[in-house]
Amino acid sequence: MPQNVDSCTTLVFFVNGKKVEDSSVDPEWTLLTYLRTKLRLCGTKLGCGEGGCGACTVMLSSYDRAHEKVVHYSVNACLAPVVAMHGLAVTTVEGIGSTTTGLHAVQERLARSHGSQCGFCTPGIVMSMYTLLRNNPKPSMADLDEYFTGNLCRCTGYRPILEGFRSLTSEATGGCGKVNCCRNSGQISPEANTYDSGPVDNTSCNTNEVTGIANDLNGETDVCDVLCDPSQFKPYDPSQDIIFPPELKIRNDLDNQYLELRGPRVTFYRPTSLSQLLHLKTLHPAAKIIVGNTEVGVEVKFKNQVYPVLINPTNIDRLTSIQLEESGVVFGASVTLTTIEDTLRDQVNTQPEHRTRVFSAVLEMLRWFAGKQIRNAAAIGGNIMTGSPISDLNPLLMAAGATLTLGSQGGGERQVVMDQHFFTGYRRNIVKPEEVLLSVHIPYTQQDEYFLGYKQARRRDDDIAIVNAGFRVRVRPGSGEVTRLDMAFGGMAPTTVMALNTMKELVGRLWDASLLEAATSLLLQDLPLSPSAPGGMVEYRRALTLSFFFKFYLSVRGWLSERLPQQVAPLTKEEELATQIHRHTAPSSTQLFQKVPPGQSPVDPIGRPITHTSALKQATGEAVYVDDMPTFSNELYAAMVLSTRPHAKILNIDESEALKVEGVERIFCARDLPGERNITGSVVPDEEVFASEKVTCVGQLVGLVVAKDRATAQRASKLVKIHYQDIEPVIITIQDAIHEKSWWEPCTICNGDTEAAFSTSDHILEGEMHLGGQEHFYLETNAHLAVPKCEDGELELFSSSQNPTKTQELVAKALNVPNNRIVCRVKRMGGGFGGKETRTSVVSVPISVAAAALGRPVRIMLDRDEDMVITGGRHPFLCRWKVGFTTQGKFRALEVDIYNNAGCSLDLSVSVLHRAMFTLDNAYKWGVVRVTGYACKTNLPSNTAFRGFGGPQGMMFTEDIVSRIAAFLNLDYVQVAEQNLYESGDVTHFNQVMENCTVRRCWEEVLTQSKYHPRTAAVHQFNKENRYKKRGISLVPVKFGISFTATFLNQAGALVCVYIDGSVLLSHGGTEMGQGLHTKMIQVASRVLKIPTEQIYIAETSTDKVPNTSPSAASASSDLNGMAVLDACTKIMERLQPYIEKNPKGTWKEWIKGAYFDRVSLSATGFYKTPNISGYNFERNEGRPFNYFSYGAAVTEVEVDCLTGDHSVLRTDIVMDVGDSLNPAIDIGQIEGAFTQGLGLYTMEELCYSPEGVLLTRGPGTYKIPGFQDIPKEFNVSLLRGAPNPKAVFSSKAVGEPPLLLAASVFYAIKQAVGAARADQGLHPVFQLDAPATSARIRMACQDFLTKKIESATPGTFKPWSVIV
Ligand SMILES: Cc1cc2nc3c(=O)[nH]c(=O)nc-3n(C[C@H](O)[C@H](O)[C@H](O)COP(=O)(O)OP(=O)(O)OC[C@H]3O[C@@H](n4cnc5c(N)ncnc54)[C@H](O)[C@@H]3O)c2cc1C
Ligand code: FES
Ligand code: FES
Repeated sequence: MPQNVDSCTTLVFFVNGKKVEDSSVDPEWTLLTYLRTKLRLCGTKLGCGEGGCGACTVMLSSYDRAHEKVVHYSVNACLAPVVAMHGLAVTTVEGIGSTTTGLHAVQERLARSHGSQCGFCTPGIVMSMYTLLRNNPKPSMADLDEYFTGNLCRCTGYRPILEGFRSLTSEATGGCGKVNCCRNSGQISPEANTYDSGPVDNTSCNTNEVTGIANDLNGETDVCDVLCDPSQFKPYDPSQDIIFPPELKIRNDLDNQYLELRGPRVTFYRPTSLSQLLHLKTLHPAAKIIVGNTEVGVEVKFKNQVYPVLINPTNIDRLTSIQLEESGVVFGASVTLTTIEDTLRDQVNTQPEHRTRVFSAVLEMLRWFAGKQIRNAAAIGGNIMTGSPISDLNPLLMAAGATLTLGSQGGGERQVVMDQHFFTGYRRNIVKPEEVLLSVHIPYTQQDEYFLGYKQARRRDDDIAIVNAGFRVRVRPGSGEVTRLDMAFGGMAPTTVMALNTMKELVGRLWDASLLEAATSLLLQDLPLSPSAPGGMVEYRRALTLSFFFKFYLSVRGWLSERLPQQVAPLTKEEELATQIHRHTAPSSTQLFQKVPPGQSPVDPIGRPITHTSALKQATGEAVYVDDMPTFSNELYAAMVLSTRPHAKILNIDESEALKVEGVERIFCARDLPGERNITGSVVPDEEVFASEKVTCVGQLVGLVVAKDRATAQRASKLVKIHYQDIEPVIITIQDAIHEKSWWEPCTICNGDTEAAFSTSDHILEGEMHLGGQEHFYLETNAHLAVPKCEDGELELFSSSQNPTKTQELVAKALNVPNNRIVCRVKRMGGGFGGKETRTSVVSVPISVAAAALGRPVRIMLDRDEDMVITGGRHPFLCRWKVGFTTQGKFRALEVDIYNNAGCSLDLSVSVLHRAMFTLDNAYKWGVVRVTGYACKTNLPSNTAFRGFGGPQGMMFTEDIVSRIAAFLNLDYVQVAEQNLYESGDVTHFNQVMENCTVRRCWEEVLTQSKYHPRTAAVHQFNKENRYKKRGISLVPVKFGISFTATFLNQAGALVCVYIDGSVLLSHGGTEMGQGLHTKMIQVASRVLKIPTEQIYIAETSTDKVPNTSPSAASASSDLNGMAVLDACTKIMERLQPYIEKNPKGTWKEWIKGAYFDRVSLSATGFYKTPNISGYNFERNEGRPFNYFSYGAAVTEVEVDCLTGDHSVLRTDIVMDVGDSLNPAIDIGQIEGAFTQGLGLYTMEELCYSPEGVLLTRGPGTYKIPGFQDIPKEFNVSLLRGAPNPKAVFSSKAVGEPPLLLAASVFYAIKQAVGAARADQGLHPVFQLDAPATSARIRMACQDFLTKKIESATPGTFKPWSVIV
């Protein structure tokens, strides 16, 4: 501490209006940990811990004394150090409303619009919206776009969230969101009356005045289009918002205090003057200066860094001020990115255009820089000083010639230009350890200067760059001759680099085609990239540098043509389009469904879009997930010790250092589970709880550290040293497995003589396709709490598991007790998607072992990176096929070998493979089929169930084959597909007869609804006129078999308890993970019991209420449990019948009372097993694996930027057969959510593994799931009407998985667009495009004059950074 300074050692801040004073706060704690652990405010969630998901969003408020106003901004509580809250007010989701005190408008609208499914993202989304409203009570949809860039949701597909909040914007319509929505004009669109006889006009809408929960279009048809009624929303009243603590307004001493907060390992300083700051940096040259902590926080959390001294310079004027100077703007190093945006926008709006070209480029770049929460917290200084090679600002600042002012106590101030000399190596620069970056000068541009920046990422919003660039050119007035050129690139070297030789060589040249030719050749020399370069995608990255320059070249040419029209030709229309920047538009949508039949009792909720039963609690943060449960006083926390080798013998485990950590209770490993107890496995016992002698993948559990708290356990777990001896072979990829013939017993479905069928085919095509894996990315990671009862081996496990019975069984086995001593309880999960069906036991079993051994409760919630590494995901698949067909496109024969990458244990891989084989026909008659499946055993973590369970892969390959046949025959895809579609009575390749087949109805309706044919013509026209942007439109159908293919799983139980007051407690075997199962089950019970849904409650799923349940999976939970609930409720009603007959005008309560006093049992169990299914016999090709099939069809149109590989989904139309929907809101939510998840699978989500099998993409920073802006700009969903399903409860149909497959339409639309680009180059129309269709794959498939310049490295001559598994 500097002399003569009084330091404050007590942290003071406000949370939800209450003052918090803490003199023993640990500077290592984040705000999130503090809120959840110390203040027990558990509404704010931990989804990733790295600022990438937004589940932890809270609002910070401070008083801006200079402008005398309160400032509100959203931040990620998982990165914000709690000690940085001094003098601030924090508002969490609990602070704005609750179900007891009343919901805030934001909470209510999100919940009522069906925008909350599992609810784990919901508090964060609520807080982003709330912050926006506090800053702007009437925002636009564009503002929403900006505020949600840092929030992810894995369940909803975002549409209902945006629609719910639309009602709070200036664009509130209560309608579909289209510009000319009839609600805007108060008119009903003419199409409303003609819907049944003609196509929906999608340039308009199809809505009606709101009259009730479910609304019909014209009073005559059976169509409804209103899932919630905005007119019922409570108005938003800003005056009711929580007030900024008056004390913080009055007192300025908190702002001026020199803060010194000491923890066991870290001290935090907040100086208030520059001299104090420089003094501290001299005393502690290794200290980290933290502003947003968005870099440092991630390093501490995920790279195990400890920085003993942290200095926070946010209260030093010099570092927070902004100076407008003649030559440019000077930003203090601690100015946040949001403030920079505001300042530069102001400059752009007020200064002459030519002066602010750099500013415009910075603004554009900031639009794509991280999420709003990060931009609100992070500073420009942190971005520069971190020196990340993919920093977004550094290329712009270098190309612009920004100047930095550095200061130190001993050396005074000095200025350095950000040029090629500034960065000296990976995350290193010329700034001395004792120096501080004080400010950054960003210059104005001059009349003859032009400036642009570019960035390409995996996902447009909130993603780090693959490559980015800043370009500045200065030309001689009147001639267009280059007098200066600056080009800086990120993502091409360990630092941001300048293309020095190109810059030099081009000076003196005219801006013409020869310059372009020279520049692209020179750039390749200036920016070499080793084929093994970290980050991979080497050819793509090189191509991007050329594409960016080409775009810049065109833009400059366009600019010059305006200045020198005699000398420079204007851009053509297609060139103009190539230079256009991507702009978001507010999405529009429609949802159409069948209205309930006339005369249905108003109490009967079946078929009505009622709200998810937990939605309101989820929106207020009151919904309890496992990690929100209060702690026991003697509770311990567990952390996992994981293998770091793919295949190795364990020589020795050294626990000594870990055991020295204070607070460590015990370390468990294989020695603690002797013999059989250590053997586990969900299907076959081929796994170990703790690896004993060898490990077979990276991420396998070797030990478990149990300690007093999370931080201690995690710290100690990193100190356990395992010594290995590697074992050969190491099998990582499917290709490796094929080479080693490493698979479980292959299986074949064959329905005839394929050779004979090929011989009668006009044409035969062969091909192959690979589809990558997918991470579940449920927002709530694995969380479990094991509570031993210390009596007779009893243990209660609170678990985030889709499969309580299997969990119970595996825990009992490991503890060597009968199943009846273990109770597994599941209240809700923050998403599951199959990832919590079997792999949760990898976590829940060992912590139960620890809890039982120690006789104390043990809790765990995995970090996001651990969860991703340990639990496996969707199987990558490879398909090799041969198809025979006629010249007209009629399919004759199909022969397929499919391989999945199962990982190191069997788990569900063979069942997943079977499902892929069963789905391989998709919706078509193929004639003779022979398909052989191989589940490949590799050294990856075991892959497992994931929504669709092999279906999305099988169907994807089919569509690939169809699209290639169409391309080969030069026929429209629809023409080929249509003639082969299944009809009722057809027989599948696995010999099941199709009954009530509605696929053609879905197909035809979606063709009409989407106006497929005229739009296809328009797409062709667009493609004719444009070279650098291409469009594609694709239609895909889907057929999906419903039932577990393991026949015994097709059973379910329920328990109904009616209490004397008439309230009903319902239990059934299914778990709630956001899919709305409990809501549907309550609806079923409500219809049978004829009482309102409010009287029925589901508390949890528990093995002591309903035993021997099947996992909530296979889309079958509503079918199975619904029938069991119906059965149980019917029994109750039968028992009540005499009382109803005796007193027909009586009330429910009266009948219950009567029955009770007559000693009639008021609880009943229900049971159901699916009739008429028999599994499938591969040898005899017979059986009936499925109860029925679900059908649907989708049309998607996309636009592809052929120069960068970027794409936008312009529009999707879906028609889905869900039978008579139990709840259209939930079903449409499932369709939209599944489709969006499929969109991620097929186009964006890419798991990268190192050649050694180490997962490189371990969090939202590197693994990209779709965000708000990735959904179709226009998204229309309709449920097929008049298609009751006789095979399931109340004629409904399963919905959870099938719509995911429809996202293949996005992939095939992209492929079509790429095909159009390739056609321009004269390339063959039949080509292979593997999935996902990432920007890299798209760009490299769109070969052109730029990609031709790039030489490919010969495979085998280098070690790639990542491999395709
Ligand atoms: C989810 C997420 C998304 C991101 N997205 C992007 C993105 O799209 N593009 C991008 O470029 N970056 C991105 N980042 C990186 C990061 O947000 C930025 O680099 C940010 O600008 C860092 O600022 P900060 O204030 O949080 O830095 P801090 O973490 O507080 O500090 C970072 C480093 O800078 C040093 N430092 C800070 N100020 C000074 C100073 N005045 N003098 C000397 N040293 C100083 C610190 O000592 C520390 O080493 C992302 C980060 C996260 C977590
Ligand atoms: S938990 Fe903070 S952003 Fe994910
Ligand atoms: S509701 Fe958004 S992640 Fe589940």
